[in-house]
Amino acid sequence: MVNKFQSIKGFYDVLPERQKLFRFFEKIALDILDQYDFCEIGLPLVEPTSLFIDSVGSFTDIVEKEMYSWKDSLNNDQLTLRPEGTAGCVRAVIENNLTYNGSTKLFYRGAMFRHENVQKGRQRQFHQLGVETFGLSNASADAEQIILLDRLWKKLKLKNISLVINSIGDAEDRKIYRSQLIEYFEKNIKTLDDDAKRRYKNNPMRVLDSKNKDMQEMLNNAPKLSDSLSSDAKSHFNELQELLSKNNINFEVNNRLVRGLDYYNRTVFEWITNELGSQGTIAGGGRYDYLVESLGGKSTSACGFAIGIERIVLLLEQNDQLTTYLPDIYITNNGAGAQAFALSVAEKLREEAYRVSVNLEGTSFKSQFKKADKSGAEICLVIGEEEVEKNIIQIKLLREKGDQFSIDFSKLIENVKKILN
Ligand code: HAM
Repeated sequence: MVNKFQSIKGFYDVLPERQKLFRFFEKIALDILDQYDFCEIGLPLVEPTSLFIDSVGSFTDIVEKEMYSWKDSLNNDQLTLRPEGTAGCVRAVIENNLTYNGSTKLFYRGAMFRHENVQKGRQRQFHQLGVETFGLSNASADAEQIILLDRLWKKLKLKNISLVINSIGDAEDRKIYRSQLIEYFEKNIKTLDDDAKRRYKNNPMRVLDSKNKDMQEMLNNAPKLSDSLSSDAKSHFNELQELLSKNNINFEVNNRLVRGLDYYNRTVFEWITNELGSQGTIAGGGRYDYLVESLGGKSTSACGFAIGIERIVLLLEQNDQLTTYLPDIYITNNGAGAQAFALSVAEKLREEAYRVSVNLEGTSFKSQFKKADKSGAEICLVIGEEEVEKNIIQIKLLREKGDQFSIDFSKLIENVKKILN
């Protein structure tokens, strides 16, 4: 018996139709990142486990129960498949001294791994595009990233997306707030569910994120972090809001937004859609001014975000947008010498930067025309034995059905340009 293999739960093949949407997203996103002068950094998929414990935090969902970690039996290293990119990026910045010239603006993309419950928009292997700015403490750095994202959503023609922001203050503000919260939860211990009871002492702010309906009233009455913010943190947050307003970015301040990773301080933000069910966060991020130092680097302000690419692809699919790159020209061919001629015609057209698909199946013209129609191309070229002999080509306009004429091969580019430009 031969074993029949299947991909493991939460890990998917990206089939060609969907991969086109990944490419579409990436192309637009990469162009925008160039416009904002962010440089790409390539990072390993595997890092020391302790890097994530020390950065994401031991009492977070990610570290507590979602990491793919193992001991490399060849040298006893404790390793983890990266669940997110910020930790590795900070490690690389410190290790390679990338802030020696002051600030630096980086981005990375690729697979991340979290052992989560699988559902629509939530996989165990997923892809992020992450962006990190190092060495800038002012609110302009946070604002620039949010403005970039706003531009990206517009270019992708995504609709019904909203921005939620909050400030979770600095370490000192949060220390005071944490003890206020713990005290408050202790007073309301009867209303806490098991999950909240388990984590309120170690991670009280995460309890605020609970979606449990029975806890909402108690949570709404909990002390607010905004009341404990230092004046510096407050003015940073005010400045950010002014910058966003000046750039016509709509946002909502939600005092309960804290995010699921421990390294943040001051600004946190999420972009949310209501079109994906419960997994509606398409991008999230914030400031993490203490992380570089806490991982052994020089004290360096930083902020960043990551986009969940699968969720964007789902939105593109749902909206049924014309997002894929269709061929401009489809070349049908049949008969002696026709395919060889078709290949050289295609090269000539590609030289002019057209997207060309050549039918290589050698089937009847009738069946090739059907494929040409389906391809989405605007022009179909028809090459048969007669065309090869006389060095001519027939042009068939696919959008205006039936319109077909012959031209000399030497006039091909001229004619194609007239039709397509
Ligand atoms: P995060 O909120 O954990 O932040 O992830 C960012 C985005 O990745 C989410 O908003 C979501 O779109 C996507 N995502 C997360 N988990 C999954 C999953 N299981 N399946 C599909 N998509 C998922 C971070 O990872 C931070 N490193 C972001 C950051 C960068 N903060 C500062 N710099």
